[in-house]
Amino acid sequence: MTTIKSIAVLTSGGDSQGMNAAVRAVVRSALFFGLKVYGVQRGYQGLLNDDIREMDLRSVGDIIQRGGTILQSARCSEFRTEEGQRQGAENLRRRGIDGLVVIGGDGSYQGANKLSKLGIRTMGLPGTIDNDIPFTDVTIGFDTAVSIVVDAVNKLRDTMSSHERSSIVEVMGRHCGDIALYAGLASGAEAILVPEVPFDLAGIGKHMKENFANGKRHSIIVMAEGVGKAEDVSKVIAETSGMDPRVTVLGHIQRGGCPTHNDRILASRLGDFAVRSLIEGQSGKACGVINNELVLTDIDTVVNTKKAFNMDMYELALRLSQ
Ligand code: ADP
Ligand code: F6P
Repeated sequence: MTTIKSIAVLTSGGDSQGMNAAVRAVVRSALFFGLKVYGVQRGYQGLLNDDIREMDLRSVGDIIQRGGTILQSARCSEFRTEEGQRQGAENLRRRGIDGLVVIGGDGSYQGANKLSKLGIRTMGLPGTIDNDIPFTDVTIGFDTAVSIVVDAVNKLRDTMSSHERSSIVEVMGRHCGDIALYAGLASGAEAILVPEVPFDLAGIGKHMKENFANGKRHSIIVMAEGVGKAEDVSKVIAETSGMDPRVTVLGHIQRGGCPTHNDRILASRLGDFAVRSLIEGQSGKACGVINNELVLTDIDTVVNTKKAFNMDMYELALRLSQ
């Protein structure tokens, strides 16, 4: 088994709450097992620019509770080129770094997969609020993002009930509807619009009109950004429901704030697991938690698999929102 003596860690793509907890776990676990550990600043951009510095126990002090990422993140188009990937791999090799932990979403996993094919020992940690990474029950940041949306909907429900209005709430998720689905179910939304399931918007508006006549005097529609613009949904709802809709686009507020304890624990478990897996000789793997078990899956498989949508949960939300 190859002896791993030093590793690096980077955060990439859309940041998410819990990334700092994951970086902390990677650094502290690596040092515990006698490895040198380096932080790469600004994701793959930093890898390309050789913006890499050694970390110690104190480098990750007092960050488990902080949103964002002390290593910062970036979206780096240059790294999508083979030349950029080779430059990144060369920067690691020149420093004698034996392995790399990439904390990011599906795009970041694509980059990690390319580095793996260039001979770099890589481990992927699912760091994104979107929850669009397969072979893990949940991604780091998703729980916190959902809790932010649920809190926002609670506040909106107060004022919508005061004025007998409907609220259209647009949430993040890129092409995945999980934030809308989980937050919609948890907040009792009257309708949940996701890209994975076709819907009849005019029919939803008419149903809201009937409900209004039967005493349901306000309503909340949670929509994933992947289905379109909240303003467009609002126009159709205004025409068909007769209610006076208001639009809230939550945007990047879903990406900040203190990570929940769930995200801190998930990130800590996965960060330590990534380090131990590298030490044991694993490479080119994505770390995940399935039924509370830590699992490794070939990154190549992960990037070529679409995350399954939880139709049972969607149908439950429909049944309970009558
Ligand atoms: P996320 O990781 O949150 O999905 P992005 O899709 O922006 O965020 O991906 C993050 C970074 O990963 C990109 O800015 C780019 O540097 C790198 N990346 C994305 N897709 C690829 C790819 N197909 N090949 C190589 N690198 C990629
Ligand atoms: O991938 C995470 C995410 O927050 C998506 O949900 C969202 O569509 C995107 O990032 C926003 O990207 P940016 O932060 O670059 O505007």
